[in-house]
Amino acid sequence: MITSCEVIMPEGSLPLSYTWLKLLHLLGVVLFMGNLIVTGVWMLLAERTKDPATLYFASKTTSLADLFFTLPGIVLILFNGMVLSIRWGGIIQTSWITAGLALFGMSGLIWMAFLLRYQRRLIRIAGQAVRTKSPLPDEFFRILHRWYFWGTLATILPLITMALMVLKPKLW
Ligand code: HEM
Repeated sequence: MITSCEVIMPEGSLPLSYTWLKLLHLLGVVLFMGNLIVTGVWMLLAERTKDPATLYFASKTTSLADLFFTLPGIVLILFNGMVLSIRWGGIIQTSWITAGLALFGMSGLIWMAFLLRYQRRLIRIAGQAVRTKSPLPDEFFRILHRWYFWGTLATILPLITMALMVLKPKLW
């Protein structure tokens, strides 16, 4: 039976207790999930202005927030999650961890394959509109709406992971 205060490895061989690893894991979750949700709302509010300078700023800060929040969040989640998994029998052996990791991985793939690419295009198009003092083209809003779609999916998947982590169901 595992208790949250137990030390994961013999005293001295690992600098962090199980409780600390879990705390760091959850800090990563807060950074990762918080940033996904907040940047979505941030862009939605910016879109309502239709102002190129506002949308340029919002797109750029969304990418910066990825660097300062999403990326450290992923590292904290993955590293601490992997170590925590040892006490549950391993990643492959424990179904809720396997499923949780797979959904988390899918969210990461969406982030890399679509979201980052769209964000770069949004910055480029909005930057051009600001420089030429012209309104934003329809293409900007088409990309932004695709970004919302993939961003919503990339948020729902880790939310399911969170439910799996808390409920710890035996799936197979
Ligand atoms: C976005 C992805 C993730 C979210 C939202 C998430 C969320 C959580 C939460 C809320 C807990 C606390 C559960 C509790 O105290 O009962 C937890 C625990 C845990 N997580 Fe994650 N997690 C994620 C990804 C991962 C990954 C990728 C791994 C493994 C590689 C992992 C491994 C674990 C383990 C083993 C625990 C059990 C700790 C315990 O209760 O003793 N997690 N996770």
